[in-house]
Amino acid sequence: PRLWLVVPAAGQGRRMGADRPKQYLDLNGQPVLAHTLARLHGAYPQASLCLCLDEEDAWFDPAWVPFADWRRVAGGDERVDSVTRALDDLAGLAAAEDLVLVHDVARPCVHPMDLRRLLDILLDERVGALLAAPVADTMKRADDAGRVASTESRAGLWHALTPQGFRYGMLCEALAAARRAGIAVTDEASAIEALGLAPRLVAARRDNLKITHPEDLQLAAVILDAQAQERDF
Ligand code: CTP
Ligand code: MG
Repeated sequence: PRLWLVVPAAGQGRRMGADRPKQYLDLNGQPVLAHTLARLHGAYPQASLCLCLDEEDAWFDPAWVPFADWRRVAGGDERVDSVTRALDDLAGLAAAEDLVLVHDVARPCVHPMDLRRLLDILLDERVGALLAAPVADTMKRADDAGRVASTESRAGLWHALTPQGFRYGMLCEALAAARRAGIAVTDEASAIEALGLAPRLVAARRDNLKITHPEDLQLAAVILDAQAQERDF
């Protein structure tokens, strides 16, 4: 099957509160977006890229795209709308059995080994799979006054990361069904789950952080430097 990468990059980065969307903030000399695309290209050089960008984006530079085959798609109101537009744009190009990997532009530290392992698993996986990490902290449920109502067991709880990979036909069907049913979809896996299917969790490194708040940028800089020193990187 062909491999398609969908990278939603149409967000505004409101929680970051910077002078530009977070994907354009500098990280060790390059914008976050350039790091993320370079990681994906390193692991999947033959893939085709579908990049979701805000129609009014004033920061994007195509020089940051290392892929030979790529297209730009206008993002939507929510992340899921951006991803849906990208999939619509691939209609007639992608086959139902082709693999689609969706990866947040805000995750520049995804490790090359995890990217390769995820693709290996997806090649013989019908339902699809996502990078994920077991929850390490004790989990508290809060009451309305900001006090602890209860302690929840973290057994069996995972953080859903990206990339998440699915067959093109199944993912389109799942997102359409979720839209019809009015189900809020914050990641692709949840749409597949709503069909009654169980995507596979692929245990991944915990340093695949999503840059969300200002302090995450400093963390990401340290992570990228440390990864570059690894022997098997
Ligand atoms: N995204 C998108 N289209 C949207 C909203 C988000 O393509 N309408 C993308 C973001 O660019 C990001 C990913 O979805 O790569 C995850 O979203 P998030 O981390 O929430 O980023 P933002 O929406 O930009 O940040 P915030 O919620 O703080 O505004
Ligand atoms: Mg958001």
